[in-house]
Amino acid sequence: MNTNSLRLQQTLASCSQSIADGDFKKSEESISIVVHFLDSISDCVSPGTKDEHESEDSAFEVVSQLHQYLISPSTDQAVIDALAFELPKAVAKFACASARCFENAEKIINHFVKSCSPRDMVSILCEAMTSSSDGFNDPSYFTPLLGALAKAFEALQRRPFEQVKSALPVILKVLEAFLTNPEDETDAGFVDLVDKSVQIAHSLKAICIKLDHKDKKLIALFGLYVLQITALISNNVGAQTSTLMLQLSHFLHYCGLTYLGLITGHEVDMSLDLLSQDDEDDHMSCFSYVRCGAALTVLWGDLSNEVDDATKQDLEAVKLELFKNQTKRWEAVGILKHIFASINLPWELKRHAIDLLFSIMEGIDFQQAHDTPLDSSVYIPSLYASLQAIQLVIVYASDPLLRKKAFDTFKRVLADIPPSLRFDILMALTRNSELSSMIAILLSCVKEELHREYPQKVSKENEYANAENNMSQQSSPFWTARVHDFVEFVLKPPNGGPPVLPEFTDAVLSALNLYRFVLITESSGNTNYSQVLSKNKLQKVYREWLEPLRALVSGVRAETQEDDNQMALCGLNPVEFVLYRCIELVEENLKHAT
Ligand SMILES: *[C@@H]1O[C@H](CO)[C@@H](O)[C@H](O)[C@H]1NC(C)=O
Ligand SMILES: *[C@@H]1O[C@H](CO)[C@@H](O)[C@H](O)[C@H]1NC(C)=O
Ligand SMILES: *[C@@H]1O[C@H](CO)[C@@H](O)[C@H](O)[C@H]1NC(C)=O
Repeated sequence: MNTNSLRLQQTLASCSQSIADGDFKKSEESISIVVHFLDSISDCVSPGTKDEHESEDSAFEVVSQLHQYLISPSTDQAVIDALAFELPKAVAKFACASARCFENAEKIINHFVKSCSPRDMVSILCEAMTSSSDGFNDPSYFTPLLGALAKAFEALQRRPFEQVKSALPVILKVLEAFLTNPEDETDAGFVDLVDKSVQIAHSLKAICIKLDHKDKKLIALFGLYVLQITALISNNVGAQTSTLMLQLSHFLHYCGLTYLGLITGHEVDMSLDLLSQDDEDDHMSCFSYVRCGAALTVLWGDLSNEVDDATKQDLEAVKLELFKNQTKRWEAVGILKHIFASINLPWELKRHAIDLLFSIMEGIDFQQAHDTPLDSSVYIPSLYASLQAIQLVIVYASDPLLRKKAFDTFKRVLADIPPSLRFDILMALTRNSELSSMIAILLSCVKEELHREYPQKVSKENEYANAENNMSQQSSPFWTARVHDFVEFVLKPPNGGPPVLPEFTDAVLSALNLYRFVLITESSGNTNYSQVLSKNKLQKVYREWLEPLRALVSGVRAETQEDDNQMALCGLNPVEFVLYRCIELVEENLKHAT
């Protein structure tokens, strides 16, 4: 027998002796000697070094011997109980050493769960997962602990809800740490961790069943857990993901969660409300991704070929419901936003989410939709945030087709909003945009609005007054003096100075185009909605926007010509073209202005 084995044998024997003697102080000391000894062995294992094999051999020997000792019938239960309190952490570190050490470490921890009070084990295992240790960046440290927790949960006899509720934040924190930014989804450690997270879901379901499905709070907690891991697992889609998602969606079905309730967020809110009622310690903050998980559940349902016909049907009915009911549709937009705004989800899923949202918005008769009176203002913050999230896809997706589809979807969501709120939202989006290309896109949306909403004047003299009255009631908020604010934001930026060129070329070009459009439309239609033709406005525009811009553009042209920067020069050409056209138009109209 080598020295390590002999040491372990001796320390365990002394433990057992002091426990048998009932000497509390001494037994505590001897257990801590065992822990120190185990740590000294596991700390030495460092894969990749030259004595890697030697140190792994001794780790394996020690962990096997410890296992043998614990399962031996001659080992007293009191000793196992005492060791169970201190050893799981030290043993879990061995799981990082090698596959065979992992196996033994897992057996030991599971043996503790099998032989000791599950209630104690839940808190011991959670403690082992929260206290910082060297194993913290290795999923193999946590995997056996999570697997054991799943077993301990199932064995809980009394008040499982409270136990589970305080353990889930710990579990989810660990899972989030590894699944938010997984290094490599094919890594065995990662796959094992995901398996354990699903195993915990199985245990939660088993507890719910054991309680005859009567504990509503436990079922709500179970549902939220599944939604949270749905979001975490979706961060890294692999070959197995859709099978996993199918499994998870069955859990959600058990919890009574439906696609409609998930996509509108109602059922998530109900669960959170139910659980927050008497939650002093704010356990609910660990469910930060449940809304994203709700959106993803529906998305996976839409994606998966394996989903049975019944569920598929369900989804079509959901789309129809969203098609019919604007409130629900807006709620769905608010839930899907979490997918677009996520920094960790893969683009592939965002693409599917855009497709799903597009298919929901497709074919909606927006004119008709606005007839439904509804207190829209409460949905505005959420719709605004959703449009901002879709902007992220428009701007950052590398695939031009996806960017295009995202933009089409953006316009449809926008069109679903009543015009007055649409104006405010477009204004807020523009003001909060830092990207020239995004501002250009938003101003092109404003121009489209103006184009679509231009109220034609009734030509007949006697109908003139009446028509104008009616028009002032229903006319588009875009055809008002406020439309100048869009142009001004770009041409005379709020924080002073002229626009930055050539960086803001796109935005400047779009603003000039917008201004030109308004000017031409009003003057040829002989209307005055935006007051663009009033002398004051024309002079102000000339003096404050166009002249400074002309000076700026010639300056930039001279500079870029010197540097022979062809790209910048090409970008400047259309700006100059539209700028000079605007100047011409303004001068011409000033002549006629009264
Ligand atoms: C639309 O959905 C909302 C929210 O679920 C509901 O309150 C409202 O009654 C529904 N409207 C119609 C017309 O069904
Ligand atoms: C103006 O609106 C009123 C009531 O909505 C309507 O009776 C009238 O015919 C409208 N006038 C014109 C010129 O459209
Ligand atoms: C347009 O309307 C404004 C105010 O309503 C007025 O001051 C201006 O003179 C009008 N301009 C033209 C060209 O009708």
